[in-house]
Amino acid sequence: MSVHKSDLKKITTHQLQEMKNRGEKISMLTAYDYSMAKIIDGAGIDIILVGDSASNVMAGNETTLPITLDQMIYHGSSVVKAVTRALVVADLPFGSYQGSSGEALRSAIRIMKEAGAHAVKLEGGSEVKDSVERILMAGIPVMGHLGLTPQSIYKFGTYSVRAKEEAEANKLLEDAKLLEACGCFAIVLEKIPAKLAKQVASALHIPVIGIGAGPDVDGQVLVMQDMLGISQDFKPRFLRRYADLHTVITHAVGNYIADVKAKDFPSREEMY
Ligand code: KIV
Repeated sequence: MSVHKSDLKKITTHQLQEMKNRGEKISMLTAYDYSMAKIIDGAGIDIILVGDSASNVMAGNETTLPITLDQMIYHGSSVVKAVTRALVVADLPFGSYQGSSGEALRSAIRIMKEAGAHAVKLEGGSEVKDSVERILMAGIPVMGHLGLTPQSIYKFGTYSVRAKEEAEANKLLEDAKLLEACGCFAIVLEKIPAKLAKQVASALHIPVIGIGAGPDVDGQVLVMQDMLGISQDFKPRFLRRYADLHTVITHAVGNYIADVKAKDFPSREEMY
């Protein structure tokens, strides 16, 4: 069997495991559309998450609950077309996997077939064990997600730090071990104490990716609109802004409006 040279550069779940083994941190960002995915793939990101945070940052919903499987497939297929290197993981949206393991499998198959994603992510531990196992049995890589799981926001009642109490911390550690035992290739830990995240990352052999989970995990993930400073109101402590695109875009659009009003655009060189 011949192996294409370009295939060797692609990030696989196996490569992510090797990165953890040799202590190399894994970089992960969200993307929901072709143009942005092309930029971050070209910049060398390891994993692109087509997150259900699309519900917030793309559709303007208050929570992640309203986004549908069809909408996730639309975002996923746009991202996949742009990507040549990164592993593309797509979120299974709320309501597409909690009902039964059969439903979970059907949803995961649709994401893989229709969006072309390379893996799926879903939220929860022991409660979704059957679904995780059924999806894995079909040969679909699964990423777990524990800690603050935004699809359960109405159960939590708040977006504050999870697993500060011993009982919840113990359950989280057990859930993480269970997901690893089921065969998940990685786990996201969202907004939990750094000490607990460190404990989970060292207890597990598979990569643990953190968001608001401190430095002692195997990789980091952020929502792209947040780290680029496009969204303005979301300011959790864990968020580092790497750009202020809100200001950049506002200035650019302001200049364009001014040029149009002043009949300064288009110029002679900009017409046919
Ligand atoms: O949907 C999302 O963006 C996520 C990340 C916050 C991990 O699940």
